[in-house]
Amino acid sequence: MVSTDCMAFRRVKGTVDYFPEDRLLQNMVFDIFRSAAIRYGFSEVEAPALESMPLLAAKSGEEIKKQIFTLDKRSGEELGMRFEFTASLARMFVERQKSLAKPVKWFSLGRMWRYEQPQAGRLREFYQFNAEIFGSGRPESDAEAISLAIESLKALGLTKKDFFVNINNRKLLQGLLLDIIPKSRLADVLRAIDKREKITEQEFDKELSFLEKQKIIKIKELLQQDLDALDYSSMNNMAREGYDELKSVLGFLGRDIVRFSISTARGLAYYTGTVFEVYDAKGKYRALAGGGRYDRMIELFGGQSTPATGFAMGYATLLLLLKEKGLLPKISLGPDYYIAVVSDDIRKEALKLASGLRKKYSVDIDLMKRTLSKQLKYADSIGARKVIVLGPDELKSREVKIKDMATGKEKRIKISSLIQS
Ligand code: HAM
Repeated sequence: MVSTDCMAFRRVKGTVDYFPEDRLLQNMVFDIFRSAAIRYGFSEVEAPALESMPLLAAKSGEEIKKQIFTLDKRSGEELGMRFEFTASLARMFVERQKSLAKPVKWFSLGRMWRYEQPQAGRLREFYQFNAEIFGSGRPESDAEAISLAIESLKALGLTKKDFFVNINNRKLLQGLLLDIIPKSRLADVLRAIDKREKITEQEFDKELSFLEKQKIIKIKELLQQDLDALDYSSMNNMAREGYDELKSVLGFLGRDIVRFSISTARGLAYYTGTVFEVYDAKGKYRALAGGGRYDRMIELFGGQSTPATGFAMGYATLLLLLKEKGLLPKISLGPDYYIAVVSDDIRKEALKLASGLRKKYSVDIDLMKRTLSKQLKYADSIGARKVIVLGPDELKSREVKIKDMATGKEKRIKISSLIQS
């Protein structure tokens, strides 16, 4: 047995450590998302990381159920870690449904857990930026969700050359599929279609091996179709409804970024209408974001029937794309000021100056009783923007020398005006 006192502990598989530079970068990206969501009229909410298993398993489908991190049963409670925000936000909406003016527009930023095989952009613990609109069944609200996803990416500096949105409608796809397969097979076929891009042709055939060959061929033919090639007159009612919805949503969106894709099915089972996914233009990474309409979840959660739509964007794939494009926000970790203390007898005065400056600036000060030259070296290595050298002479004259570390320039300034500035 390995003794724990000589064992170096490792990060859990599929999780990420956020060191200061990583966390600062993430905060900057999240602030950009936060401000985009607020500009679109969304309010921020947070939900518990722990939810009851019945809620988590309720409407998401078999595929995701296998990925839920469950906890040991305690006092009869079955709990799991949230794998998405949507179910939690729907539960929160139901709780206040009666008193809230519709539509309700909520966004959230937080950690999720899924038991997946870790790979680039796919983790077991990851972050999502999530937005939901409850109470509007109109295509305008699907378009609003998609626009927010697009604008959030643009606010990071990405352009139509870097990403695109695949849009489809579940009713359209299901309606067209029901001309080929029985209803009882719909869920399995949708799941296979969702996986199709990530698997080989043979694997896809295997996923559909419960169908006759002829039907698989027909499904493949269907998945080649473009929007203009679809024959409205021969569609059943479900497909027509989906087609009309899709056309309306597309009418509110620029066609340079948003494209029709009949094979966009989405992995989660709860979608009822519009579905969409965002990808990087080169198709190098897995999806950046995904979402759609889920009009039946609220009533399933015990609320009054309410239409809903939304999306979630992952931080992991986005980070890979931003890195590739050289679009990572510039970070600067060091404090605004570092106060170098010349001698120990003035330490108290130095701390007073620090606390005065800290009302407005980030300020660091020697905690190691280092020599002046070592303090200056340290200030440089942590990236302090300005250094104040404080000694008995400076205290007497109430004037300090400030060195700008970027330019090397020095200037003298009165302590009183420094604190007021
Ligand atoms: P989702 O497609 O499962 O949808 O996840 C949305 C995004 O979260 C993905 O496109 C991906 O960027 C990121 N993501 C998912 N799983 C992982 C993972 N294991 N590691 C890293 N990133 C991941 C949902 O979660 C729905 N709740 C979206 C939604 C909101 N639909 C309606 N409202």
